Amino acid sequence: MAKRILVTGGAGYIGSHTVHMLQKKGYRPFVYDSLERGNYRSVPKGVPFLIADLANTSALESTIKQYKPDAVMHFAGYIEAGESMSEWKKYYENNTINGIKLVKAMLKNGVNKLIFSSTAAVYGEPYETPITEDAEKEPTNHYGMSKLIFENYLNSCDGLNSICLRYFNAAGAGYGIGENHEPETHLIPLALKTALGQQDEIKIFGDDYDTPDGTCVRDYVHVLDLAEAHILALDAVEKKSEKYNLGTGKGNSVLEVIETAEKVVGKRIPKKFCERREGDPAVLVASHDKIRKELGWEPKRNLKETIRSAWEWHTKNPKGF
Ligand code: UFG
Repeated sequence: MAKRILVTGGAGYIGSHTVHMLQKKGYRPFVYDSLERGNYRSVPKGVPFLIADLANTSALESTIKQYKPDAVMHFAGYIEAGESMSEWKKYYENNTINGIKLVKAMLKNGVNKLIFSSTAAVYGEPYETPITEDAEKEPTNHYGMSKLIFENYLNSCDGLNSICLRYFNAAGAGYGIGENHEPETHLIPLALKTALGQQDEIKIFGDDYDTPDGTCVRDYVHVLDLAEAHILALDAVEKKSEKYNLGTGKGNSVLEVIETAEKVVGKRIPKKFCERREGDPAVLVASHDKIRKELGWEPKRNLKETIRSAWEWHTKNPKGF
């Protein structure tokens, strides 16, 4: 019998790519999304979909009761580190409190397997690179803190198996869908929008970090590699609770990303150096040894392939969905 998976935030960027993969692999996903930031066009045809907020406990409980999922994948949440510094309250309300409501609704209705979209932002400024899962957790922004508190809450939930996947920088596109945040704040889509002439220049936030070229270093991982990790986590969550980093293990600076994007698009992308963005650590690069050894996950796509897949989507969908 195909497993039923309730997917919160299944109309968002990483959620929708995972829903496509779940469907393709024969699972039965059910999308629960408020559409505040997601897009219904990113959900594949034939997948049941409820437009509802996580804060709506009665909608959540009745969905769980009726659908009886085997497991829940919890993608829903706010994701902007920069925004979380000025609007921090809503990060705790949505990412932490609504997550707790979800777990309570699950356990009350006999559902005890959760795969949670966590983030590299739980680590803050790392003491050592690449970052392993047991590294210090000292988030430098409220986004990371809101997810870390929820991770800690999960540790306290008897009877729940949970796998926390700490994404590094998700990028790229697949299944004819792509990255389309409103407003867009992420480096790769903004560089590509600049190449398409939709903005005059790409801003580079800070050139005085303690990195080889002075710009921030991140670990960009293809969204389909992330989706594959969720499928592996579905088997693992049957037996255990764990926390895994999801990154390629290779860091690229902002300037390197823009240079690679220039190679992909075949022209110069105008750039401008600006002030640092508040809350940005200098370097975030994952060690993915743990998930490789325990679940057999390997990232398959490199930075150029990742940017190329994003470019294909942006050129076909210059106005987004
Ligand atoms: N950057 C620029 N100019 C821009 C946008 C970004 O220079 O116009 C820089 C940022 O300062 C940062 C890097 O590019 O150094 C990547 O920034 P993104 O906004 O693309 O991504 P973040 O690293 O801020 O955050 C992303 C996700 C988070 C996740 C984090 C984990 O949005 O959800 O990766 O590393 F937690």
